[in-house]
Amino acid sequence: MTIHAAALKRKINASIKFTKIIMQPIARFVFCGYNPREDTTRFLFFETCRIMKEEFPMAWNRWNLLDLNDWEPDDFHGFVDYALSLAPRLESLPKKPLDSLRGMTVANMFFENSTRTRNSFAAAEQMTGAASIDWSASGSSMAKGETLRDTVWTLCEMGVNGLVVRHSLTGMPYYIQKLVPHIPVFNAGDGARSHPTQGLLDIVAATRRLGDLKGATVAIIGDVKYSRVARSDVLAFGGMGARVTVSGPRTLLPANPEAFGAKYVPDPRKAVAEADIVMLLRVQLERQEAGLFPSVKEYHALYGANEELLSHAKPGAVVMHPAPINRGVEISSGLADGERSLLREQVHCGVLARMAVLDICLGGGKR
Ligand code: CP
Repeated sequence: MTIHAAALKRKINASIKFTKIIMQPIARFVFCGYNPREDTTRFLFFETCRIMKEEFPMAWNRWNLLDLNDWEPDDFHGFVDYALSLAPRLESLPKKPLDSLRGMTVANMFFENSTRTRNSFAAAEQMTGAASIDWSASGSSMAKGETLRDTVWTLCEMGVNGLVVRHSLTGMPYYIQKLVPHIPVFNAGDGARSHPTQGLLDIVAATRRLGDLKGATVAIIGDVKYSRVARSDVLAFGGMGARVTVSGPRTLLPANPEAFGAKYVPDPRKAVAEADIVMLLRVQLERQEAGLFPSVKEYHALYGANEELLSHAKPGAVVMHPAPINRGVEISSGLADGERSLLREQVHCGVLARMAVLDICLGGGKR
């Protein structure tokens, strides 16, 4: 099914849901159980809210983004449609900011280096009208011994309405959410556990290029064991109805890849042959020093994406990579810059996905 047909189908379903939301409370009011002593407006309002919650469980109830493991397939589909609907705003000249979050402030707290996530959250904040506070551990008063708790509380006292957090420690966004339960936290990558906005932007970029992902196969190749992107991608592509396989050196794969939610295909050439999307992961070069693979050259020959590996792929297969990339290690320059590459589209869709996340969670649609 093309993207247009799939989007049309979802629009029709949404229209049916809206009709139900409007008609059901009125029908209940007219035909059954109406107590004339009850205030009519209140009755209709609360009944409408109740049905909306049932029909649209995600969009208007989601408040923060720590992970994707509580997202339903409808959440992923609705999210992708919404993120793609924002594209003309980013792509027109001059841009047409959404401006739904004007008067709000988002603090970007990066305890770990980043180019894409950090700057695309900043771009998304501009596009939604929110003011940004850009904070990084280096150059902050943490160097003078200020604790993480005091740093978070200090920033939050500056009128912050949302906190974007990246940290090398697994679970840190959850910890920070507990420190400031009144301010939504957006996980921008924690340790090797989760990178939810990367998972979301990847399905937005893949849908934009390929259309409906239901039934598609995604082959994730490389350092799966230590990859937060792989964990979020398995959930995001799985939620869109795609099948996920993983391949790579056994030392860089989880002990039980099936429990991870993906089928293990030891030979990357076989994994690629079945795939509509070939997703490469960055090789963390310190893994070689730890002896998890013999040499960069050997890694590229066996598991690197180059013209030889892609010669096994389906004609329409595309190449993705969360980046930053190691050219000549997990991906050749020819593939990274070639026609099948979605790498630049991924960065572009990162802004759309983060605009959608901030707008939905900070209540842009309700303002
Ligand atoms: N993909 C990704 O998270 O990139 P950055 O580390 O540059 O944010």
